[in-house]
Amino acid sequence: MSRILVLGGNGQVGRELQRTLAPLGEVMAPGREILDLEEASAVAAYLVEQRPDIVVNAAAWTNVDGAEALENQQTVTRLNEYLPAQLAGYAARCGIPLVHYSSDYVYDGGGNTPRSEKAPTSPCSRYGDSKLAGDRSVLESGAKHLVLRTSWVYGSRGVNFMNTMLRLGRERETLRVVDDQVGAPTTARLIAEVTLLALQALLQDRMAPGLYHLASRGETSWHGFACDIFRQALAKGVALEIAPERVAPIPTSDYPTPAVRPLNSRLDVSRIERALSVRMPDWRSQLALALEERLKY
Ligand SMILES: NC(=O)c1ccc[n+]([C@@H]2O[C@H](COP(=O)([O-])OP(=O)(O)OC[C@H]3O[C@@H](n4cnc5c(N)ncnc54)[C@H](OP(=O)(O)O)[C@@H]3O)[C@@H](O)[C@H]2O)c1
Repeated sequence: MSRILVLGGNGQVGRELQRTLAPLGEVMAPGREILDLEEASAVAAYLVEQRPDIVVNAAAWTNVDGAEALENQQTVTRLNEYLPAQLAGYAARCGIPLVHYSSDYVYDGGGNTPRSEKAPTSPCSRYGDSKLAGDRSVLESGAKHLVLRTSWVYGSRGVNFMNTMLRLGRERETLRVVDDQVGAPTTARLIAEVTLLALQALLQDRMAPGLYHLASRGETSWHGFACDIFRQALAKGVALEIAPERVAPIPTSDYPTPAVRPLNSRLDVSRIERALSVRMPDWRSQLALALEERLKY
């Protein structure tokens, strides 16, 4: 039976991976209190001690605005750049597969069509820069790897756009939400489920190692996403102060943040669909599932 090491197991994607990858083998998911991923020597010792057969790295610094702050640079570099490089080196030396997650923020956000994996990268934030550096280390390592590049991750648990909107929608009668950033909201559960399929295909040499976009189909803006969250929540009987028509669309320029975000986050997912003979579901159907789960607790 395989021993699968999931890093970042308490995060949005990591939590789903712990459940979804269980049929593949024994899942080990050490939390921060057991393994501080900023400590390269501790990571090295853990790998030698536990000898995983598969490594899945869902850990990262994901606070996009926080990544711009001077005081966080060392941590961002260690988690998003050094850690993937260390894992890739280990995976290459030991001949074991490594799955790593990337972000739409490695692109510059120009244009208005979906990007393929061949599109040039040009991040507009420190977070995007650091993710790209981590991706490159994995892609160039010679390890049997998958770099799964995703966008707008959320789920029923954790701090994310859907849960923030549900909270704000209970508190406020009006909201202003950015309307000119476009992408595909993607649930952590979908990412975990497709990761299982991809890992199986990789292990059986049915899928080439490399970079794959992994996101829902369809597209919307943050404003469109917010309106749909409220529409679907109201239809499920959730009591809200807000009505979808009271959500005002605003341009990014009216909502300044420390980090610049790409306006076009559309990802072309046809490569992973072909590789796995699947069709990625539309973001709206995934929202319905995530909301249903959220409303259970
Ligand atoms: N979120 C998005 O919208 C988005 C979009 C595109 C791509 N991605 C990528 O998708 C992947 C998963 O994202 P996510 O949203 O699931 O991330 P997340 O919820 O922020 O989870 C990150 C995980 O990393 C762990 N971690 C961070 N620093 C650590 C440290 N020093 N030691 C041990 N653990 C540490 C966190 O532990 P704690 O729980 O203890 O904090 C957490 O479990 C990442 O590679 C991210 O860059 C995310």
